[in-house]
Amino acid sequence: MAYHRATRAEIDLQAFQHNLLTLRKYLEPQTQIMAVVKADAYGHGAVPCARIAVENGADSLGVGVIDEGIELRESGLKAPIIILASIFPNEAEDLVRHNLATILCTASLAQALSKEAEKQNKIASIHIKVDTGMNRLGVSPENLPELLNQIHNLKNLKIEAISTHFSSADDEDLSITQIQLEKFNSVLALLRKEGAHTPMVHCANTSALFKFPESRFDMVRPGLILYGALPSPSLQPVLDQEENLEPFQPVMQWKTQVIMAKPVAKGQPVSYSRTFTTKRDSHIATLPIGYADGLHRILANNMDVLIRGKRVPQVGNVCMDMILIDVTGIPDVETGDDVVIFGRQGDQIISVEELAVKGKTLPYEILCNVGKRVPRVYRNG
Ligand SMILES: Cc1ncc(COP(=O)(O)O)c(C=O)c1O
Repeated sequence: MAYHRATRAEIDLQAFQHNLLTLRKYLEPQTQIMAVVKADAYGHGAVPCARIAVENGADSLGVGVIDEGIELRESGLKAPIIILASIFPNEAEDLVRHNLATILCTASLAQALSKEAEKQNKIASIHIKVDTGMNRLGVSPENLPELLNQIHNLKNLKIEAISTHFSSADDEDLSITQIQLEKFNSVLALLRKEGAHTPMVHCANTSALFKFPESRFDMVRPGLILYGALPSPSLQPVLDQEENLEPFQPVMQWKTQVIMAKPVAKGQPVSYSRTFTTKRDSHIATLPIGYADGLHRILANNMDVLIRGKRVPQVGNVCMDMILIDVTGIPDVETGDDVVIFGRQGDQIISVEELAVKGKTLPYEILCNVGKRVPRVYRNG
């Protein structure tokens, strides 16, 4: 059955490629790039994005969970893949079988992995994560020497990298990242002093790689910037200062179409629980997109859309499958008219960053939450 859903996420793969190449040009040639394509490439589709990433200069791919790594392997991707949120010991067999690498912070996982790798006659690659202040995953700097000691005797493990992660690189106040970076540098200095072989070093996400050039070490781990969005407004002035940096381009646009448009008299309530009442004789259009598609309910009565090249307000509660917009004064709105939730129409733009601010969240969450039933429509340019 030929099937087309009016609500769709248009993914511009050329913009993704442009963003990767822009970053590649900006970094020193020896700085490796781990393209972070976890969470289905932040909702953009892991396989197509990962393919373009490795074809355009990404040295490795970062995913969140092992299933995402297996999906990429089964799609024929051969590049190194690292599981950033680590794995459970009972996932060691799959990790080794699919030649995936993982973040590692415990001796018990190291033992399970080495045992499994020995069984499969392979060497498992690990990236040790040091906890420098995020207090999420990672071994504390104090316990790192002991962990390294325990790993030292495990023949089937290869320490490929030492890494950490910043808790606050997206924030305006850079002091916390500075402290984490200093802590990480002390760990690295200690390892060198003790004669430990220091493998590859990485820690920088999008914000850190721009705000703290010294955090790039051997490899950076950009995610959001590859999708053409900014983690926070505090990054814009930093990018503006870089004379030779071309603008990054948004990769996803979220669109739908009017399913019905009708007059609604002044004083009429609209949608569930009557949170909006028309203040004049109005024209209201219904759009087939709702919170089941990932459009957060908190945006009700607090977001705009683009239709016929104009910005108009959304009105009433966000339903599971529908929202309503006020198109009063725009002539001839009819079934099938294209509507932009975020993206561009004519010279009007609604950015994912704008929607995130209005939804009291981050662009990350808006992008990742674009639902499974929203088809991704890929465009090349
Ligand atoms: C460990 C790790 N590295 C890198 C990234 C990429 O971050 P960003 O999308 O801010 O570049 C993430 C994303 O959350 C992450 O968890």
